[in-house]
Amino acid sequence: MLKELENKILKKKAKIGIIGLGYVGLPLAITFFKSGFKVYGIDIDEDRVVRLKKGKSYILDVSSSDIKEAMASGRLVVSTDFSLIKALDAVIICVPTPLYKTKEPDVSYIAAAVEKIKRYMKRGQLVVLESTTYPGTTEEVMLPVLESGGKKEGKDFYLAFSPERVDPGNARYNTKNTPKIIGGLSKESTGISKLLYEQAIDTVVPVSSAKVAEMVKLLENTFRIVNIGLVNEVMLLCDKLGINVWEVIDAARTKPYGFMPFYPGPGVGGHCIPVDPIYLSWKARQYGFEARFIELASYINSEMPGYVVRKISEALNEIEKPLRRSRVLVMGVAYKKDVKDLRESPALEIIELLIKKGAIVSYYDPLFPYLKIHNINLKCVEFNKASLGESDCVVIVTDHSDVDYQFVARNASLIVDTRNILKDIKNKANIVRL
Ligand SMILES: NC(=O)c1ccc[n+]([C@@H]2O[C@H](COP(=O)([O-])OP(=O)(O)OC[C@H]3O[C@@H](n4cnc5c(N)ncnc54)[C@H](O)[C@@H]3O)[C@@H](O)[C@H]2O)c1
Repeated sequence: MLKELENKILKKKAKIGIIGLGYVGLPLAITFFKSGFKVYGIDIDEDRVVRLKKGKSYILDVSSSDIKEAMASGRLVVSTDFSLIKALDAVIICVPTPLYKTKEPDVSYIAAAVEKIKRYMKRGQLVVLESTTYPGTTEEVMLPVLESGGKKEGKDFYLAFSPERVDPGNARYNTKNTPKIIGGLSKESTGISKLLYEQAIDTVVPVSSAKVAEMVKLLENTFRIVNIGLVNEVMLLCDKLGINVWEVIDAARTKPYGFMPFYPGPGVGGHCIPVDPIYLSWKARQYGFEARFIELASYINSEMPGYVVRKISEALNEIEKPLRRSRVLVMGVAYKKDVKDLRESPALEIIELLIKKGAIVSYYDPLFPYLKIHNINLKCVEFNKASLGESDCVVIVTDHSDVDYQFVARNASLIVDTRNILKDIKNKANIVRL
């Protein structure tokens, strides 16, 4: 059976299913399509499926022309029908892994997808989980369900974990040229998933188990959250000492080894950095272990929106204006530049805090015409002299590329720049940096 699957993969005859067509699943589907496979995308979101059938992409890193080409070729099928799984040789799960309000991992999307796979599973199928999750999920959550019908992993089906490392909006690294880690439950599973991914992805790095692969991803994102937390704390200290932290980092990065620059900012956002390390600290607690770096970095980073609001308030105070009733224009609400994604964006918390303190808040973000935060509804303002000039303070939260910041600098009376995007403008008292 393994030989048969190997042959199908090598001849590009294997049918590949992707469950969950979001930021991770859709680029992956197109990557497998481009390498010659027939790909079946399954999502519970009917809207997304309809849009794809019309040849329209909703993900920044996937062009509509790629979707049109794939759909027209007949080698990309998209559907909400899970019974398609019956015909597949490999099924790759790319569903969300958020946190519950209690900050506990919500693996219910994985569990739902696995139930569907179990229902339609055929012998000899390869199942790979790509969603980021705590070490042990593949073995503890997926394996028992898939084996419950009597099938044996490594013999009747193959199961592996392969973390997705995609960085939305990154022009240099994409799904194809970012090395892929793979760890199977059995050596057969590692081998067959390595073979599959090698057909579409430039570099595949096998590791000894699914648990190791799960931990690799969490180490990577913990590394980021801790270093961001560290640099945010250094920024708070530099503020007290009257030192420009941005200049310090720029100088430190001239060291050719042993230093990697991270930058302070208004807080961390997105589906990964603020969430994934919490999966790890939750798992650690089950073993009576406290993941102190993660907890501390999360705490420091979560304080940043409040710090930004204090900066705005102090800057207004300098010109004898109270925050209450002042007009504050928030520039950029996405969680990171050039990405149409609001998940966990610190801009949302900054807006809520400003409104709570009585400021009159507006926002500008070319990627979001409207914004809804709980019961707050806002409409994006025009980017012009009037909207900038009417504001008592403009706060740059997300530094999208297609915005003329020199125009902002010329027309705003007071700016709080959380991204140092106006670094070339020196010695202007009306520009306040982190
Ligand atoms: N976005 C990133 O930059 C990124 C990077 C690396 C890893 N990841 C991880 O990848 C996983 C997916 O993230 P994403 O950003 O692609 O999420 P997403 O929300 O963009 O997409 C998930 C898709 O899964 C669909 N879905 C949900 N439940 C489903 C089910 N039971 N069956 C079929 N489809 C279902 C949703 O409708 C949605 O289209 C997460 O674990 C995330 O942590 C994300």
